Amino acid sequence: MSGILNSSIGRKFAMALSALFLMVFILQHFAINILSVLSPDTFNKASHFMGTFWAVQYILQAVLILGVIFHFVMGFVLEIKNKSARNVSYAKNNGNANSSWMSRNMIWSGGFILVFLVIHFIDFWIPEINTKFVAGDMSGLIDPTNLESGFRYHEELVHKFEPIWRVALYCVGFTFLALHLLHGFGSAFQSVGANNKYTIALKGVSKVYSIGIPAGFIFIALFHHFTGTH
Ligand code: HEM
Repeated sequence: MSGILNSSIGRKFAMALSALFLMVFILQHFAINILSVLSPDTFNKASHFMGTFWAVQYILQAVLILGVIFHFVMGFVLEIKNKSARNVSYAKNNGNANSSWMSRNMIWSGGFILVFLVIHFIDFWIPEINTKFVAGDMSGLIDPTNLESGFRYHEELVHKFEPIWRVALYCVGFTFLALHLLHGFGSAFQSVGANNKYTIALKGVSKVYSIGIPAGFIFIALFHHFTGTH
């Protein structure tokens, strides 16, 4: 692995692989969270399955967190090397003088997504880890002593989106996610060599994904804020 990361091509390839992995995660994460709008009962069941199934909790979640850390650290490493190299910047590796704002500012959109993720981990992930692995409550119930009390996930999520400041912060985070994906999606496929006759179609998918998924997250946050208990 370290050999690959010694070359600029190797670093871009590894960065693209981590980006593709995170894009699959975001799609799965959106699919589960949109259930909180469409069917709270199914959302509760899906959240409990993902939150207690051993392969997700002990393998996929560890790989995911390592993937997130790798993507951010490598993003900063490539930006610093770009600045020092001056001529071959990661953000402008397409060699096109009139590169887009999104491609010139991947470090900024990435930086804001990192701020969002820190807030998001404090809001959702750390309380989840605390309940399950510190307090040892894997029941997922509102009242662990009462089986009739029902699952807690949907109620907790709706409660999180009551304060408008959190909704506003999340929507700003999702907007930067869109700006990051609008360049990152295509660039990741290009860096792994997926530059072929499907590129035109890929460009279409890239736009739908890069705007559609963040817009969907914005819809989820606004929906729960304005409808409250659903
Ligand atoms: C309305 C939008 C969102 C909602 C309601 C939401 C909800 C949640 C919840 C409930 C968890 C805890 C899951 C668990 O550990 O059992 C979580 C974790 C996480 N979220 Fe989100 N999320 C949203 C958007 C995002 C976005 C846009 C990203 C990435 C840019 C993201 C990245 C993560 C990551 C990396 C974790 C920790 C890993 C995991 O446990 O799944 N989330 N989110």
